[in-house]
Amino acid sequence: MITAAVILGLLLLAPAIWFQSDLLSGYVRNIPWFLNTKHSLDTSSCPGYTLSSLSETYSGLTAQLSLSGNACNAFGHDIANLTIDVKYETETRLHVNIFDTDQRQFIIPESVIKRPESPSASYAQSSDLEFNYDASPFAFWITRRSEAHGTPIFDTRDHSVPFVFEDRYLQVASILPLDTNIYGLGEVVSSSGFRRDMGSNGSDGTIQTMWTRDDADPLDENIYGSHPVYMEHRFDEKTQKSQSHGVFLLSAAGADILLSTPPGAKNSRIEYRLLGGTLDFYFFSGPTPQKVIEQYGAVVGLPGWQPAWAFGFQLCRWGYHNIDETRETVRRMREASVPLEVIWNDIDLYHDVRDFTTDPTSFPGDEMRAFIRELKSNHQHYIPILDGAIAHQVNDTDVYDPYTSGVEKGVFIMNPDGSEHIGQVWPGFTVFPDWFGEHTQAWWTDALTNWSQHGVEFSGIWLDMNEASSFCEGSCGTGANLSDSKLPFLLPGAPGNPISGYPECYNSTVSGPSGNITVDGISTHACDDGYQPKVKRRVFSVESGADADEPPYSIHNGNGKLSARGLASNGVHAGGLTELDVHNLWGMMSSKATHVAMGSILPGERQFMISRATFPSSGRYTGHWLGDNFSLWQYMHYDIQGILQFQIFQVPFVGADTCGFIGNTDEELCNRWMQLSAFAPFYRNHNIKAAIGQEPYRWDSVASASRNAMAIRYALLPYWYTLFANASTIGTPPVRALFFEFPDEPELFAVDRQFLVGRDILVTPVLTPGAESVDGIFPGRNSVIWRDWYTHGIVDTNSGSYTTLAAPLGHINVHIREGSAILLHAQPAYTIAETREGPYSLLISLSAEGRAFGTAYIDDGISSPPGPNKILTFSVLDGQARIHADGPFDVAQKLQEIAVLGVGRKPTKVLLEGKATKNWMYIERTQELIANGVDGDLNRPLSLVWL
Ligand code: NOJ
Repeated sequence: MITAAVILGLLLLAPAIWFQSDLLSGYVRNIPWFLNTKHSLDTSSCPGYTLSSLSETYSGLTAQLSLSGNACNAFGHDIANLTIDVKYETETRLHVNIFDTDQRQFIIPESVIKRPESPSASYAQSSDLEFNYDASPFAFWITRRSEAHGTPIFDTRDHSVPFVFEDRYLQVASILPLDTNIYGLGEVVSSSGFRRDMGSNGSDGTIQTMWTRDDADPLDENIYGSHPVYMEHRFDEKTQKSQSHGVFLLSAAGADILLSTPPGAKNSRIEYRLLGGTLDFYFFSGPTPQKVIEQYGAVVGLPGWQPAWAFGFQLCRWGYHNIDETRETVRRMREASVPLEVIWNDIDLYHDVRDFTTDPTSFPGDEMRAFIRELKSNHQHYIPILDGAIAHQVNDTDVYDPYTSGVEKGVFIMNPDGSEHIGQVWPGFTVFPDWFGEHTQAWWTDALTNWSQHGVEFSGIWLDMNEASSFCEGSCGTGANLSDSKLPFLLPGAPGNPISGYPECYNSTVSGPSGNITVDGISTHACDDGYQPKVKRRVFSVESGADADEPPYSIHNGNGKLSARGLASNGVHAGGLTELDVHNLWGMMSSKATHVAMGSILPGERQFMISRATFPSSGRYTGHWLGDNFSLWQYMHYDIQGILQFQIFQVPFVGADTCGFIGNTDEELCNRWMQLSAFAPFYRNHNIKAAIGQEPYRWDSVASASRNAMAIRYALLPYWYTLFANASTIGTPPVRALFFEFPDEPELFAVDRQFLVGRDILVTPVLTPGAESVDGIFPGRNSVIWRDWYTHGIVDTNSGSYTTLAAPLGHINVHIREGSAILLHAQPAYTIAETREGPYSLLISLSAEGRAFGTAYIDDGISSPPGPNKILTFSVLDGQARIHADGPFDVAQKLQEIAVLGVGRKPTKVLLEGKATKNWMYIERTQELIANGVDGDLNRPLSLVWL
């Protein structure tokens, strides 16, 4: 959300809040920042537990844990009797569930997140992982079976952090190898990058707080999503080999998860501090990063199928004030020949900023219907915003059916005294759907259906503010004047709150507001020697003490009190559940409900949804955008860690607000960012109200850079589509950190300025202003050939270190890995539908041994559940490329061309389907054989041979 702090921060308080002073960072330097707060705790008198009554079961074991001494009641009441269930669920997954024997603690119902089926075989003797324990004091550790005496992957024998299980406080820690590589735990914009900070010698480290929260992408604080899952990657210096494993805590509890290295310690540590629930751990044996992510997907559910059109370019802004402006944007995109697949409207669309409405003057329903149909006839799509909260009726004559019918059906969250819980969002005072309510789904489906029948014939939905966000504290509307819709801050661009910020190195005082690269022929670039990141991590100023609606242990929620800018944590949900226990589930449950509703509105079609708040299993229903970022180079860099994080979280369809959301962008930043995001799964340019326009047609250089990058993206669509088919069927992450593919090269473990799309496409974007070149590392330490996307030339790489690449403005470096065979669209067109109508080509990049391999998944791009498909397999060896086609789907488009890179000498003869062909050429410089006029039927096997 655009909070008061953000908006003011943009304006006046920016230096104090967002661009934190050195004075404060000095404070952080010497003291472990998480100990220097009101959150510090002493649990040393907590007695721990003793294990007894162990019995072996078909799939593992079960035992009782009883409190070993007097209760310490550190932050709640110790629970005397616990049960531990250990299940070897598959060869690669071990489930350790510790819960209160009486089962009074909250656990996420199966109806909310369905657990995997019970094991059909006993893996107790064959699993990759082994459970070990000490009975008293109780502790457990998990080892790899193959390394019984090796370092455990998880080990709670760190008795300096006692095992505590209270109603409102649970604590457990694991010893980790010193400065190990941890990825995941989020959602966060981490100042240490994709690899999390383990701290050193007691300073810094990481506190990842799990409390879904609306704030404009602050550094190192909890934000929109809550994902208590991590992947650890360990490298063995002796063998020079690595292994990855994963740890998932299935818990919705508000929590702090800390990564630290105590002073002088030989180990690092992960520590969990939870506000409730149980300790329900899943361990995944990997041993590769990809496998860990797939194994996690098998527990929380695999990502939903995306429609093909979802990969097209999408354009949005807060501040398309009416249909005409929105339509004009679509027209100008076409006029500039910059592909546009989807146009979005923000809350400008609404009447009185209320969900499920359209403004009768600026977005009348009938005109919306006509506009959206016009888009559809051009193969384009429309997506509206849908906010989490529902406007409260302002008086008795106010007619707003989503509210009144919701009250009738009892679908809203209540206060403990039975009154409505009333918060405040864009329309003024609001209520919040209770997704646990018996009638909530039907009510939500009705409201969405109605909306779509009244002109908003959407193709997908944008779920916003669903943390759930509120602008005030708790039930602030109780007893208030409900007709007062004044917000507690100024909207961006309102008098007194202009958008005045620009990217680093752009000096608007000197150059004016245009954002142009040159003004009157003079460069507007104003950094002599590089730039300094503007946004720094914030030192926590913890609220003074707990308040009535907080539990005794205060997690490091960035807002302080749990109810600050959110719902009261004593809010009541159906079945007597409290907001404190279920808060983190709200966003995911709203996505699930919207998914169900869309299933009935657009039956048989794949659904498209982007949600701001997420939780484990969200990927089944929705994609995600990375929230309110800043129009800063610094944030363009963070875009990459965000995309990688959500690959671990199994929400792979993700991307950032391209060109930046908060503040004004400029031509150079927007140029680079439009190119970077062309290689992100979700590709949308979105802008804050009142900032200068940042549609790609605003600057010629940006239009041209966008056209070039989009042409690559649309050519690669069959490749993206195949990656996402693999994600939806086996959970393989489509976008990969470099070490995912090259796990034994430690120099890659912290790389997050580059990334791989799938196995084969390496992207090295420019992330700094004023650059003409970029340094990139090429994985494989010279044993892998990387070819330039544009020239097809081989890169002269430096083994294990960086290579400088030319990167003039408008050029993004893209390289193709050896041994790959990638199906492309030969003629990228204006829309995805038109592109898919055109012919294919095949790009083969041979290894030094002359091999290559690839697959492509093709279907109709829209059916849900997916209908018939065709799987193409490309294998290349000894001068022969073979295509194998499998599956009933009829591929109507022909294969037009096959390009083979790395053919050492000019062939004397080329055979297509066994017959000599003259339709080929050879380019000596790049050792490239191009067979054109192939006219191949992709429903049948096909071969190309060169002699
Ligand atoms: C907050 C969202 O994060 C942002 O993308 C949107 O533009 C504003 N809400 C206004 O709806």
